[in-house]
Amino acid sequence: MTCGNRLLYVSSSIVIAIIFSITGILIGRFAIPRWNNNINWKPTAQVAVQLINDEIFLKNLAEKFLDRVDANEIEKKLKQLSQRTHLAGTDDDRDEAIDIARKWREYGFDVTIHPYQVLLSYPDLTKPNTVSVTNENGAIIFQTNGSETIYAEDGNLPFNKIVKPFLAYSTNGTAESKKLYYVNYCTSEDFQMLDAIMDIADLVGSIIICRFGRIYRGNKLGFAQQYGAVGLILYNDPIDYAPNGTSKDKTYPNSIYMPDTGHQRGSVLTTNGDPLTKNYPATDYMYRNPIVNNTYLPKIPAQQIGYGEARRLLSSIRLSSYNSLQLRTVHNVIALLPGTVEPGIFASFYRDYAEVENRQKNTERIDVKLFFVIDRYVLIGSHFDAWTFGSIDDGSGTAVSFELARVFGSMNRSGWKPRRSLMICAWAAEEYGIIGSVEFVEARAGICEDIIGTSRLLYQYGCYR
Ligand SMILES: *[C@@H]1O[C@H](CO)[C@@H](O)[C@H](O)[C@H]1NC(C)=O
Ligand SMILES: *[C@@H]1O[C@H](CO)[C@@H](O)[C@H](O)[C@H]1NC(C)=O
Ligand SMILES: *[C@@H]1O[C@H](CO)[C@@H](O)[C@H](O)[C@H]1NC(C)=O
Ligand SMILES: *[C@@H]1O[C@H](CO)[C@@H](O)[C@H](O)[C@H]1NC(C)=O
Ligand SMILES: *[C@@H]1O[C@H](CO)[C@@H](O)[C@H](O)[C@H]1NC(C)=O
Repeated sequence: MTCGNRLLYVSSSIVIAIIFSITGILIGRFAIPRWNNNINWKPTAQVAVQLINDEIFLKNLAEKFLDRVDANEIEKKLKQLSQRTHLAGTDDDRDEAIDIARKWREYGFDVTIHPYQVLLSYPDLTKPNTVSVTNENGAIIFQTNGSETIYAEDGNLPFNKIVKPFLAYSTNGTAESKKLYYVNYCTSEDFQMLDAIMDIADLVGSIIICRFGRIYRGNKLGFAQQYGAVGLILYNDPIDYAPNGTSKDKTYPNSIYMPDTGHQRGSVLTTNGDPLTKNYPATDYMYRNPIVNNTYLPKIPAQQIGYGEARRLLSSIRLSSYNSLQLRTVHNVIALLPGTVEPGIFASFYRDYAEVENRQKNTERIDVKLFFVIDRYVLIGSHFDAWTFGSIDDGSGTAVSFELARVFGSMNRSGWKPRRSLMICAWAAEEYGIIGSVEFVEARAGICEDIIGTSRLLYQYGCYR
């Protein structure tokens, strides 16, 4: 919320001023201009006084803002937000977007909803993904349950809507092998270690089991695939998730630690954003890469299990995953509080001079006009999708966004107006691979680079919409 390094802030404006005085045109841009080390600007006395006054002004403003923030409001909001499940692409998820938009409109914001149709992944509602141990005749002698124990402390929550544990984007299929390899955390060092003690080619055709943690789970799957494994099993090791012991009195609901049926949900996609529209927004009219052989999608099934079950995997193993890829629509919600100055009006602020190193490496003094950076939005965001009720990840963030919206709205009503436009963003489908926010940026990258005109044009024609 603070202005950060003030000198840098003003100095980047100098860079802009110089660029503009050369080109004479105003180019709207989101990107931070390249910092030019050759510029050595010291404020003159008059400007310095102005900067100090601004500093005091901002400090007072921050205090006013904090006075209005109410922890009870955040708590209330979090409670509300965690009443329903928020799996991206579901009806509940869409309803949440609509509710957020309605509430932020009530706060006085100009709110828009931005839908994108993106490739998501869902487990089969009727068939849980399982890991089984079979005997020589193929008869199942042990099978994982494919669900978690539900601790219905809060009896009214729609537990039936919680999606069964699955690893998003892991393939639909059954992997079977007589070889189960334990590869620690499945980091590249772990595979190197294995390579030192055995013939690593033996991993081909095996199922690998490793612990969650240390690296992104999608990279674990990437390594498993690279070494020729046909399936991957992940579990939360008690050393990381139940360090005080695994007995009932040491785990949830008697302690904060994970019980033996607990599962970590997550995605194994190895890119950010929609994998079918890489670098482009997933709008209706966009070309989509085929799903078959898409380099960002995993090629083997993978599934997480509870550590209680991980203990029991001893002989030959079969892993069945019934996940499916589906194109679904997700919605970012963006609330705008237009700035009084930026973006929109090109305001010159101070006149001063700068010392610039010229080609001959001599220092030259040049006159500059200092502009405050004009074509920037301040974006404040959190994602509202979640694997389940999402009270921590990221209901806590969304509840805070609500409070910011409420307080900015109330300050705006009592006369304060921000200089820069503020955007409060509720991002969609983060859990699947930071999808909502990436699509949003991809939708704007082109426009913001290509349009040459006033920032008023950008404002009207969609740099924020
Ligand atoms: C998993 O365990 C729960 C609770 O013990 C039980 O109700 C359910 O039927 C089991 N599901 C499977 C597929 O075994
Ligand atoms: C874990 O064990 C330590 C040592 O016995 C204890 O102080 C601590 O409270 C325990 N933590 C939890 C969350 O139960
Ligand atoms: C996908 O890759 C496989 C193996 O390289 C190849 O045989 C197949 O033709 C590819 N399919 C498509 C649709 O490109
Ligand atoms: C998953 O694979 C099975 C067997 O290969 C197939 O019958 C089923 O239709 C597939 N499901 C989806 C959702 O693609
Ligand atoms: C801010 O105030 C303007 C009028 O001054 C009003 O039109 C707008 O809706 C307000 N926005 C918010 C978020 O309160």
